[in-house]
Amino acid sequence: MNAMVKAEAVHKSFGPVEVLKGIDLEVEPREVFCIVGPSGSGKSTFLRCINHLEKINAGRLYVDGTLVGYREHGDKLYELRDREVAAQRRDIGMVFQRFNLFPHMTALENVMEAPVLVKGEAKAKAQERARALLDRVGLGEKTGSYPAQLSGGQQQRVAIARALAMEPKLMLFDEPTSALDPELVGEVLDVMRDLAQDGMTMIVVTHEMGFAREVGDSLVFMDDGVVVESGNPRDVLNDPQHERTKSFLSKVL
Ligand SMILES: Nc1ncnc2c1ncn2[C@@H]1O[C@H](COP(=O)(O)OP(=O)(O)O)[C@@H](O)[C@H]1O
Ligand SMILES: [Mg+2]
Repeated sequence: MNAMVKAEAVHKSFGPVEVLKGIDLEVEPREVFCIVGPSGSGKSTFLRCINHLEKINAGRLYVDGTLVGYREHGDKLYELRDREVAAQRRDIGMVFQRFNLFPHMTALENVMEAPVLVKGEAKAKAQERARALLDRVGLGEKTGSYPAQLSGGQQQRVAIARALAMEPKLMLFDEPTSALDPELVGEVLDVMRDLAQDGMTMIVVTHEMGFAREVGDSLVFMDDGVVVESGNPRDVLNDPQHERTKSFLSKVL
């Protein structure tokens, strides 16, 4: 079986600054794969490379066995056309720290938008699934609310439902609870836990070590553009082997 995500020596620079210095990792189907590390270590950049929002400078990235963003001919890589990149991206849901909902649309309209616009799905069908998804994230009563009428936790749950509406095979979460008031974190993590139990493959950049420990199948600690340490979340968090990991964990745990 293919890994859902495979990174081989992924390098990424912004101008002269090398932000990813050779990332190797594999995420198995149905796995909850957590990434932790200090600010600026390249976590968001790596997630953005997975759906080709950033172009990598060297190495290879595969999603479900398919090279991301490029076609390989001999030993040369050719960048895919925008349409082809968009088609790849459709299979990957992304949830950001900030909820990025459309402010002028209701929760229901936010969730329906992409299936109708991108997939050309019939409105009635998209609406039916949007209702079911909002129900699933505990917002069945809020379908008609606008983002400004919802709490941060509710908005983030709409954002998750919106990503799920495209029926992705992989979900990327970039610090989904970091912008939330502490009392709203739990409701979002509950939705993510439910998704994990349902078998969704998820890469989760997070500072929520409790979530990583309970729900995570694997965890990597990134620092300064490299994977310093990886393994079972409980092992890495309870018994870090590297000084940098120990130092980081002593600040966040
Ligand atoms: N578009 C960009 N242009 C230039 N530098 C960037 C860009 N995006 C990120 N960086 C830099 O890359 C480094 C890693 O950033 P990021 O991936 O956001 O780290 P993290 O998510 O771990 O905090 C930081 O030094 C950041 O300033
Ligand atoms: Mg980040």
